[in-house]
Amino acid sequence: MSLLELQDVAGGYAEEADILHGVRLTVEAGEVVVVIGPNGAGKSTALKAVAGLVRVRRGRIRFAGEDITNRPPETLIGLGLAYVPQERNVFPSLSIEENLAMGAYVRPSATAEGLARVYAMFPELAARRRTAAGALSGGQRQMLAVGRALMLKPRLIMLDEPTAGLSPRFCDLIFAKVREIAAQGMAVLMVEQNARPALAIADRGVVLAMGRNRAEDTGPALAAHPEIGRLFLGG
Ligand SMILES: Nc1ncnc2c1ncn2[C@@H]1O[C@H](COP(=O)(O)OP(=O)(O)OP(=O)(O)O)[C@@H](O)[C@H]1O
Ligand SMILES: [Mg+2]
Repeated sequence: MSLLELQDVAGGYAEEADILHGVRLTVEAGEVVVVIGPNGAGKSTALKAVAGLVRVRRGRIRFAGEDITNRPPETLIGLGLAYVPQERNVFPSLSIEENLAMGAYVRPSATAEGLARVYAMFPELAARRRTAAGALSGGQRQMLAVGRALMLKPRLIMLDEPTAGLSPRFCDLIFAKVREIAAQGMAVLMVEQNARPALAIADRGVVLAMGRNRAEDTGPALAAHPEIGRLFLGG
């Protein structure tokens, strides 16, 4: 059984027409899966459906043996499922350490262990633990958002475009951290526009287009695929 499984998931926003038209996706324990596809393909919507933020109208979502279809979002972190949205993913007026502590709010007794583990992975955050998140660079802020999601050592972390707007140095750093996260036994499901370098570090890549599965292969094989390259990776 997969850690995460989307079976034929259809759904969309409020009263509006469906955005997802039967998406299939699996993530195994400790695996890195990257979702790519054109703007408006439904990549973020698919993550939001897993996170309980978008209504699933058909199909099922299973996580760690449980049916989590349309579960309230706040119940998922306790199951080991963490989600980092693309934007507004830190509290700007709170310090780094306060932001990280929020990541353990459902299990406050885990805060000290979580801080030690996250600071070991992101020494830059440790060095500035009293700094307000709003004062950080875009790359540091993204590291903080990821760090907060890691506080309870989730079984799966979902990242929506973690490298958007970042310099190449920070992109490489984030992708290296993704491999480190997987090496520690946590699975990663990541949406990326920065498709080639993301596929290069992925165990598996999935292409979504118009709310449907378009292709799937190992990360490197997908990156090398001529049609995928032409359509989605700029040649
Ligand atoms: N909150 C919302 N309410 C209504 N429609 C939305 C909402 N968010 C996204 N959509 C619509 O859903 C469709 C898919 O959007 P989604 O954000 O999932 O695409 P995406 O693949 O993540 O694209 P991008 O690469 O631009 O981030 C788009 O047509 C978008 O306009
Ligand atoms: Mg998106």
